[in-house]
Amino acid sequence: MNPFFLTPHTPAQYFCDREKETEDLVNYLENGSNVALISPRRYGKTGLIYHVFDVLQAKKAKVELYYVDIYSSRNADDFIALLAEAISRTLKKESAIKNFFKALGSLRPVLSQDPLSGNPQISFTFQTDAERRYSLKALLDYLDSRPQKVILAIDEFQQVREYEGVSMEALLRTYIQPLKNVQFIFSGSKKHMIAEMFTAEHSPFYESASVYSIDKINRQSYAEFIDRQFKEQKKSISAEAIDYILEWTRCHTYYTQMLCNRVFQLVKKEATMVDVLVAADTILREYTDTFLERRNYLTVKQWDFLIAVAKEDTVTEPTSSAFLQKYHLGAPSTATRLMNSLLEKELLLETKTLAGSSYCVYNVFFSRWLEGM
Ligand SMILES: Nc1ncnc2c1ncn2[C@@H]1O[C@H](COP(=O)(O)OP(=O)(O)O)[C@@H](O)[C@H]1O
Ligand SMILES: [Mg+2]
Repeated sequence: MNPFFLTPHTPAQYFCDREKETEDLVNYLENGSNVALISPRRYGKTGLIYHVFDVLQAKKAKVELYYVDIYSSRNADDFIALLAEAISRTLKKESAIKNFFKALGSLRPVLSQDPLSGNPQISFTFQTDAERRYSLKALLDYLDSRPQKVILAIDEFQQVREYEGVSMEALLRTYIQPLKNVQFIFSGSKKHMIAEMFTAEHSPFYESASVYSIDKINRQSYAEFIDRQFKEQKKSISAEAIDYILEWTRCHTYYTQMLCNRVFQLVKKEATMVDVLVAADTILREYTDTFLERRNYLTVKQWDFLIAVAKEDTVTEPTSSAFLQKYHLGAPSTATRLMNSLLEKELLLETKTLAGSSYCVYNVFFSRWLEGM
């Protein structure tokens, strides 16, 4: 079997490192703290949440664990439906779900089954905003009434800021504050936004969670992990090949997993540099149409700017004349505007350190593909 998982819920033996992060999160939760988990996309927040849940379960902690991903939600109604579905999914047993529905009483939710996944699907019909608010409160109160402590992870939490109409943030805050039995993990990829939600004094969630950022997995532990996974499946990989993988994917978890997964699939026994190059090339070719498509949504200048950043791999001074002249990108003011629009579109990723900011193309495969232009 292929030990390099591409789905967030990864069994412990195929889960790389994150030992300190896991320990820290378990610690926060066991000590009654809410956590706001932050990192760029595809570093491994969702994977870490599931891993922490597995650890808590293995410890036989007396907790019930709920997970809801609100990335697809566009408004309060979606949020409410997703939360109700997440609760039903965790309750599993029909009798428990019946009781849950009883608690929702007058809200008359309609339960059906997703034809593909078999997961519960729930829909509500609200006549008024008051009904909508009442139902949100009822769901949270239901969790508060569970016999065991509850941890609710709300993934892609920044999405609530996109809802039109009601301030979901303020509403949630109002209903969450009085709860005694529920703790939260709020997780999100838009670093500035999530940080602002929990650290700006004017935000409803100000200081209501410990803000915890995760970085890339340490390169050395990733290298050891890759070597071990090959060996455990009776294959092997050269040190040089591992090094190349981590360099080429910048240790960005999803991309590293993906390339490892392909290399593993490709080789019968021993993986060498050549196999890595073939696998990387195959991946880029598969994405060609998708990447070309992106060009339609960008101006020529934005596109050229992306190529320039990709060719540099990482840029620390994107408005310096050296960089702008080398790639014929125009004046510094233009560059600033281009950069901001590309950051906004999440095509560029900004990494801040004490030494200052650096920029690279967010999607690593896209970056490697642009580099070859
Ligand atoms: N510690 C890990 N070990 C192995 N694979 C991981 C690990 N963390 C994440 N992954 C893989 O990387 C992918 C991206 O991680 P994910 O948790 O979805 O990132 P995020 O939620 O930050 O966007 C996951 O689908 C999973 O396959
Ligand atoms: Mg995620």
